[in-house]
Amino acid sequence: MIGSFDTSQVITVDYLRDGMVLSGPLYDMKGSFLWPARVPIKQEFIDRLKSLGITELTYRPISIETAASKSQVSDPMISEETQRKVYNSFANVVWDITNNSIPRLDKAKESINDVAKEIRIGIGKTINLLDLKSHDEYSYVHAVNCSLLATLVATKFGFTSDRVSSIGVGSLLMDIGKIKIPSSVLNKKEPLTPIEVDSIRKHPVIGYQLIKDSTEIDDIAKRIVLMHHERVDGRGYPLGVTGDKIDVYVKIASICDAFDAMTTERPYRPPLPIRVAIEEILKEAGTKFDPEVALRFAVEVSKVYKIQSPLSENSVVQLSTGEIGIVLRLHSDYDMMPEVLIVLDTFGNPLRNMVSVDLVKDSVGRKVSKIIYDISLILKVKSLAESKIR
Ligand SMILES: [Fe+2]
Repeated sequence: MIGSFDTSQVITVDYLRDGMVLSGPLYDMKGSFLWPARVPIKQEFIDRLKSLGITELTYRPISIETAASKSQVSDPMISEETQRKVYNSFANVVWDITNNSIPRLDKAKESINDVAKEIRIGIGKTINLLDLKSHDEYSYVHAVNCSLLATLVATKFGFTSDRVSSIGVGSLLMDIGKIKIPSSVLNKKEPLTPIEVDSIRKHPVIGYQLIKDSTEIDDIAKRIVLMHHERVDGRGYPLGVTGDKIDVYVKIASICDAFDAMTTERPYRPPLPIRVAIEEILKEAGTKFDPEVALRFAVEVSKVYKIQSPLSENSVVQLSTGEIGIVLRLHSDYDMMPEVLIVLDTFGNPLRNMVSVDLVKDSVGRKVSKIIYDISLILKVKSLAESKIR
């Protein structure tokens, strides 16, 4: 991330014009965020400032650069123009909701469709996510990045273009309900009170209420907004339902949400390296995230970022049958159907006759469902496997 230094300038409200695009955000003189970077300024905004008696503002020129800190991208998949379109369409939705207008969701949908098109054309290239240059823009950049990631992952999962579009739009809008939560609560650095925690946890329901009547947004996107904080173990919110009641589209959006949050720098912590963030998601497979979706996400995202797959030779894995084994051989670098030596049966008991199964040819149709991170289990499986291999 490029080092930041204060380049603030004071500008008068008279300087602003309808449609003007500034490269940095606008703040009031006390430092409260007013208007995001690169979003055309609206006459209504100028009028509102004037009606509030505001004559001067602080302007901080910044540049959102695509990608570099996250992926060292030299061959980006999504054009800057399309990213900007997603960003602006999101800013328009925020503007509409803030001003109690009916949100214009057609542009958000259109921009996500453009992303999906570019991903389809550029399959195999590296994704370029927006890089955060201003903490005040976190929610905008996070929303855009979640939608880019979710669109990419949904495309890799092989969904139809309609489904991909729904997942991308839902991921763009999933935190829209936070607009109605005071920024003093959202940006509070001290620990939150139980009442404040409660108010933040209302954002999925508030967001759902804001978009539920839209005919431009389908049910999949609406469910993503409502359910993206559900967990497969049923300990999420607002509904507290278990994995079988959460559809795969919501599961993808939840993982993208967590992944982008972990890999983005925040005022209170540095960004996690991509490899570590992927591992964190896999460690929460089965509790927070759906194991199969998490594994597939991890392998696809590793491939996109050109880092080693978390599923490698010697990985200890759980199979879809509940059996546990060790990966003996991968057919290719990002293979999800390797050859596995099955060491423990479905009940966790050591097999007297361990069998090696090539998942590609397995008549039972076993799949890898989870990578094991429990050290004692790994040691047990490895020592049993070594006794067989010796
Ligand atoms: Fe959220």
